[in-house]
Parts: sequence; C-alpha cells; structure tokens
Amino acid sequence: MSQAKTSVVALICAAGQGERAGTPLPKQYKELNGVPMLVHTIMAFLKCDVVQEVYVVLSPKDAWYDVLVAPLVGDAVKAIRVGGETRAQSVCHALGVLDDSHDDTWVMVHDAARPCIQGSFIKKLHDEVLQRDAIGGLLAVPMVDTVKYSEDEVQVKKTLDRKKLWAAQTPQMFKLDVLYNALSDALVDETIAAGITDEASVMEWAGVSPLLVQGEVANLKVTYPHDFKLAEFWLTQMKA
Ligand code: CTP
Ligand code: MG
Repeated sequence: MSQAKTSVVALICAAGQGERAGTPLPKQYKELNGVPMLVHTIMAFLKCDVVQEVYVVLSPKDAWYDVLVAPLVGDAVKAIRVGGETRAQSVCHALGVLDDSHDDTWVMVHDAARPCIQGSFIKKLHDEVLQRDAIGGLLAVPMVDTVKYSEDEVQVKKTLDRKKLWAAQTPQMFKLDVLYNALSDALVDETIAAGITDEASVMEWAGVSPLLVQGEVANLKVTYPHDFKLAEFWLTQMKA
C-alpha cells in the first residue's frame, strides 16, 4: 500500500510596514536585482517540491500585491488579507483561515523579508523534522558574536554562553492545527503575546521543544536600509 504524501503548505508573512527599512513602500515590495523582494521569497517556495501550496498573508489595506507581485507569481499563490498589528497576529489570523480546510497538514511559516532562502534549506528543514519525528522545527544559525545581557540598556549584567545560543530564522515548520491552537491561546494574554516573536517561541510556551536545524547566514532578514544591498549580493551569489 502506498503511503500518503505528507501535506505541507507555506505561509509567507508580508503584512508588515517595514518601518526600520525606511522605504516609501513596505520593504517586501522593494526591488532586489530588479524584482520585488516578495517575488524572490515566493518563488523559492513555489519551486520547492516538498511544498504543495503557497499562501501569503497581507495587510487588509495592502494596495501593492495585486499590482507588483500577482502578475509575476500567478494564480499558484493565494493571498489572505487578514494581517494584524503584530507578526504573531498576522500568522494567527491566516492560520484561522486555513485551519478548516487543512486537516493533517504541516505549515512552514516564513518571513517575506527573508528573500534569500534557498530551496535546499526548505527541504533540509522538512526532511529533518519528518525523519526525526519532531514536533516541529526551525532554521537557525549558531551565534558568532559574544552576547551580553543587560536590563537597563546601559550596563552589562552578564555574558551568555555562546555555545548554547542560536539565532532563529524562518521557515519554521509545525502542524498547522497545533500551531494555530497554541497561538490562539497565547495571544489572549498581552504579556505572553509580547514575548511571541516567532512560531518556535509559542510552541516553547506551550511546553514543547522544537528541533534546531542549521541554516545559513545568507538567509538574512532584511530589516535596515543597508540590508537591501546585502540581500542583492546573496541573491546574485545563489544564481552564480
Ligand atoms: N509581518 C507581518 N505582520 C505584521 C508585522 C510583520 O506579516 N504585523 C511580517 C513582515 O512583513 C516581515 C516579517 O513579518 O516579512 C518579519 O517582520 P519584520 O522584519 O519586523 O518586518 P516589519 O514588521 O515589516 O518591519 P518593521 O518592524 O521594521 O516595521
Ligand atoms: Mg516588525
């Protein structure tokens, strides 16, 4: 008897305003090497054969997706216009839309602002989570800087043990209904919600340990103005 194929959908978060990047349009629409950032991000998932469907969560007020992105990515990508005030709210609202029609499905949540994600790393995350029978997992990179802990932004209280520190990236992969339930519960409490900055943190809050899968530094999150050039560099390297 043939085994049913694991169902995996990608959810790309593109409902932010990109304030730190300081661009006239939200940063996900800025062109990198002549193509909007969000198109690079979407194409990585559309081309990856472990992903069956690609969704993008947009702000309800978004005026740019239909003009700048939809003509380049086509109907294969479905836009969900339910973005919230925070990233966690955007993800939670979108999962709420997908939950009823996606039984026994894994979701890979990814930042639109990480356009240099490579298909090989999407597949690596997928394969390691499934092969190790993990509750879910995330791409992350070991810290290279020594990390200082401060409570007042002035004085160092202590130095953290770098060997135990990882910088979390996306995609992050979990069962869609499990993640949706955990996020819905966590976002009820404002104090807890404030500490939810990625999917792994909400699963940790729910009491489970996500799997760390080593990613690469090229998968940066475009945040500040100087990051655009850096992302263009990595996109060029990836094509070479
Ligand atoms: N995001 C989202 N909904 C929000 C906030 C962020 O979908 N309410 C998305 C962004 O579009 C981005 C990703 O989450 O792709 C990571 O967030 P971040 O890098 O912080 O982007 P912005 O929130 O847009 O930028 P800033 O914080 O500088 O305003
Ligand atoms: Mg933000």
